[in-house]
Amino acid sequence: MRTSVDLTRFNTLGLNATANHLVTVSTLVELDRALHETVLSEPVEVLGGGSNVVLQPLIEGTLLHVAIKGRELRADDGRVAVVCVGAGETWHDFVLWCHHRGLHGLANLALIPGSVGAAPIQNIGAYGIEVAQWIRAVHVTNRYSGERLQLSRDACEFGYRDSIFKHEAGAHWIVTAVEFALDREAVVQASYPSLRARLSDAPLSHDAVLAAVMAIRRERLPDPVVTPNVGSFFKNPLMSQDDADVLVQCQPGLPVFPASEGLVKVSAGWLIDRLGWRGVERNGVKVSDDHALVLIGCGATSAAPWLALADDIIKSVESAFGVVLELEPRLMGCTAGPAGS
Ligand code: EPU
Repeated sequence: MRTSVDLTRFNTLGLNATANHLVTVSTLVELDRALHETVLSEPVEVLGGGSNVVLQPLIEGTLLHVAIKGRELRADDGRVAVVCVGAGETWHDFVLWCHHRGLHGLANLALIPGSVGAAPIQNIGAYGIEVAQWIRAVHVTNRYSGERLQLSRDACEFGYRDSIFKHEAGAHWIVTAVEFALDREAVVQASYPSLRARLSDAPLSHDAVLAAVMAIRRERLPDPVVTPNVGSFFKNPLMSQDDADVLVQCQPGLPVFPASEGLVKVSAGWLIDRLGWRGVERNGVKVSDDHALVLIGCGATSAAPWLALADDIIKSVESAFGVVLELEPRLMGCTAGPAGS
């Protein structure tokens, strides 16, 4: 266990934050040991790839960095294969690994930064699919009791960028591995407008979708290795079709996408763009020139300027359109109190 650890290189915004304790675990045995040694009264936070978090200056208690690796083919009936993969694997490497074995379903989610363990927590999604539809089970360990369980897909209560792990009912689970059921004959998913446009008249194939998704992302979304960012900084707001219709009447051209449970998503990027935020820079944080839903770092080293710019955007969207945007990344830690400041 390391103490007073600088987390700058553990988050893609490159924010200066300190964890009281940091433990990296590469096996379940190491995880058990780490949980056993953790002071029970202290909070335990979990960090994966650090690509979807906004770290405040101080992470109290223990920060667990889950680096459990491994990819294993657990079952294969010739069509559907069950693959179990460690939470610490890199998401995009896993997507490619599956693709090259003819195990399909995940191509639309190529190049999403982060770890496999973070994928179910956020229910990552892109270009018309969400990861939940390919998940069979999520392997978890109870951070307090050490109990291990495999949660079925239903038990994970997946929603748009949401799962049980983001709520009190599931906050005690640490994701250690994810089981996917992938399909050699999966239907190619190419109906998302920008993907369809990119594929144009090319014959539909999983290869073509993978290449198109990677090309679109590389064009429009900054690489977190080069430019500090967490992808979308806001979620697309969910609403009823009726409410979306009213909004579209006043804002013709506003893109509306299907969502679950009879709701639709409207494009937050379009609304923010409409208000002229693209390219606006304040205190070392900028709204991307290429995509208004994405904030990029240009010098900021603490969470405050990111949250201040986000807050201004939220207020302006609410006042112009009556729509309240929510942050997409997770906020972790706290501003350092008198003792830590
Ligand atoms: N748009 C604008 N101006 C902008 C940005 C977007 O008018 O500055 C319009 C686009 O023209 C398009 C629509 O908004 O018609 C949607 O844009 P895009 O296809 O880029 O999708 P998004 O809804 O903005 C979501 C995900 C992305 C994912 C893309 C593609 C969320 C919060 N974001 O963005 O995920 O890559 O769809 O499927 O749901 C992420 O979660 O970090 C992320 C990047």
